[in-house]
Amino acid sequence: MGLTELIEFDVIGDDRGNLVSLESFKNIPFDIKRVYYIFETKHEVERGFHAHINLEQVAICLSGSVDFILDNGQSRKTVLLDSRSKGILIKGLIWREMKNFSKDAVVVVIANNYYDESDYIRDYHKFLASVKNT
Ligand code: TYD
Repeated sequence: MGLTELIEFDVIGDDRGNLVSLESFKNIPFDIKRVYYIFETKHEVERGFHAHINLEQVAICLSGSVDFILDNGQSRKTVLLDSRSKGILIKGLIWREMKNFSKDAVVVVIANNYYDESDYIRDYHKFLASVKNT
């Protein structure tokens, strides 16, 4: 099973600069219900450390860079997000961690559902048990 999929966005550029447009079921492969962003992350902070039961998300690093660590219970992969024109699609039972935020990192996350704490698995051992049961 693939851990993640990178989505390359078309950049609409002209002599004034660049623009990227994100649209449900076009370059974002689901109905967009929520957008949140992470910024001013303190030095050495690591975030994430959870999986979702149902949620699908696309994360884009709009400024600076961050490492996304993705784990499907069998293998682990680190993806450096450092481009405004690339998004990482995270769906299915995937444990994610975010590390090495640059000082200027701004990460926007597009999701197919509202915030729901009951959709989170925040314990790595429970995550591994859930992977075994699927
Ligand atoms: P948390 O899931 O710990 O963030 P991360 O996975 O990036 O480390 O979320 C931090 C807090 O923000 C937590 O109290 C839940 C809350 N939150 C919302 O209220 N809405 C949201 O859309 C998200 C992502 C988090």
